Amino acid sequence: MEALVSTVSRSCPFLAKTPVKTLRRLSTLPAALPAGHPAPAPRNALLASAQKCPVMGTALAVQSSRAISTSAKCPFAAAVDAAVPIVGPPGAAAGFGAEPPMPNPPAFVNGPSAGRAPAAKPAAAAVAAAKPAAFAGAFDYEAFYQTELDKKHKDKSYRYFNNINRLAQLFPTAHTGTGEHVTVWCSNDYLGMSRHSLVTENMKATLDKYGAGAGGTRNIAGNAQLHLSLERELADLHKKPAALVFSSCFVANDATLSTLGSKLPGCVIFSDASNHASMIQGIRHSGAPKKIFRHNDLAHLEELLQSVDINTPKIIAFESVYSMSGSIGHIKEIAALARKYNAITFLDEVHAVGMYGRTGAGVAEYIDAMDEIDIITGTLGKAYGVVGGYIAASAPLVDMIRSYAPGFIFTTSLPPVVVSGALTSIRYLKTSQAERSAQQLHTRDLKGRLDALGIPVVPNPSHIVPVLVGDAETAKSVSDELLYKYQIYVQSINFPTVARGEERLRITPTPGHTAELADVLVDALSTIWRERGLKTVEDWAAVGGNAGVGTGQRVEQLVKLEDIEIPAGYVPSHESVTVSASA
Ligand SMILES: Cc1ncc(COP(=O)(O)O)c(C=O)c1O
Repeated sequence: MEALVSTVSRSCPFLAKTPVKTLRRLSTLPAALPAGHPAPAPRNALLASAQKCPVMGTALAVQSSRAISTSAKCPFAAAVDAAVPIVGPPGAAAGFGAEPPMPNPPAFVNGPSAGRAPAAKPAAAAVAAAKPAAFAGAFDYEAFYQTELDKKHKDKSYRYFNNINRLAQLFPTAHTGTGEHVTVWCSNDYLGMSRHSLVTENMKATLDKYGAGAGGTRNIAGNAQLHLSLERELADLHKKPAALVFSSCFVANDATLSTLGSKLPGCVIFSDASNHASMIQGIRHSGAPKKIFRHNDLAHLEELLQSVDINTPKIIAFESVYSMSGSIGHIKEIAALARKYNAITFLDEVHAVGMYGRTGAGVAEYIDAMDEIDIITGTLGKAYGVVGGYIAASAPLVDMIRSYAPGFIFTTSLPPVVVSGALTSIRYLKTSQAERSAQQLHTRDLKGRLDALGIPVVPNPSHIVPVLVGDAETAKSVSDELLYKYQIYVQSINFPTVARGEERLRITPTPGHTAELADVLVDALSTIWRERGLKTVEDWAAVGGNAGVGTGQRVEQLVKLEDIEIPAGYVPSHESVTVSASA
């Protein structure tokens, strides 16, 4: 510090010859300036002296962001900055002083912490006043944040988080911030495994034995037997030689695609237009050129593949179940194109693992295509009910990602307790068909019932039930009404997660969503649709269809009835197992 002061003093002609005592006195003396001084009237004599400084004086006159770097260059100016906030035009200092209290709940949480009435838009002043600018003309960080948020409010894409506390013993019930019970119809805990007694009992035992955290990265003290067992289990699940576990599948996708795309010489990545943000991020981070093919459009993919030299390394990245529309990727066909054009395939089975196939390995297992895919990625956080992500692939590929991917190497590994829960869940779902079957039956049932009422379900062959609203504000308002009036929680899905004009409610039935709960949901939706005059399938057909609704084609569920174990005594509440329109 002393060295700094001495350097500052030596390089600034004013500071060098002014004792600290004088500086202090100047900072309290009012300024005397000649008439017509160009800069705003300084508050005191120290500031007036700063304005005479050949560097700082100009900076003050300009009063722009250039002053920041100038100030940094002139040690005296920096000293003045620290000692006296530079005054701007009258009123510029308004908002300095005590920060307003944070609203409770935070502005982005829907409802009073939370539960009864929808939250108002956050008060702009309350957010903007969090941290004042250092001096007039300085870059105003807080104002910048607020402007970015205002854009979100304006285009209705601002995200409100609902305070939802899912109750393990009352699945699929949750309590809100006010303690009110609601039925959750939009969780990705697709099979209710997060509260399965085998999973929670094993987790409790592991917690007692190994404690709360992993204690390090995989490289340093965080590589336990449980991690190794989980990776063996996952490799076996996908019938691949090796697997690698990450903190999440977002990280797995990002780390794997960015590493592969940057390592493979000249690599070009072909990406489905509907791919998840984690893959888009990975592709961007790889720096590799990318070619985006229209969602599920094989002809377009082939056209793009033809445009690249056959000997250039290529990755085709796509998903099995696209979670916002429920559409399913053309796995076999894409694998065939990959063989033809010497590409490798990267398949995200995040929404399919645990859900499809005899052992829950995903859609590729269900259609018998696992060995045609090079890299399969999945999550431990949805159907498996815990958290974490992984890749399964050849041993050299997995070892290369293990050795080079920063997203794998430089982070604390999953806690043993989490690994133990995931391992239990995977092993259990390898043999039990009951959860998958009940989930499939409840999905068929709900789709059929909504279809019969003309409530527009985006047609698709998977377990997702997206109900088309077609407008961001209305979608949020319907979601709020379901929550506050009917005690049903279904999150609205808006841009950029879905295209503008295709906003929807994304419903995900689970084994716990009985026919009685479905009655309540269907009645609520049909009342809301009627009272608000929302567009039905017929209405969408009249305007040429939207998001596949109202186009008149029919889509069968991927999982055939004969592959579902129907429990004794199960009576479907609706016959229909197909919905109109195209995938
Ligand atoms: C298709 C897809 N891939 C990857 C992810 C990321 O998975 P995780 O939640 O394990 O990070 C998601 C998350 O929703 C997803 O939908």
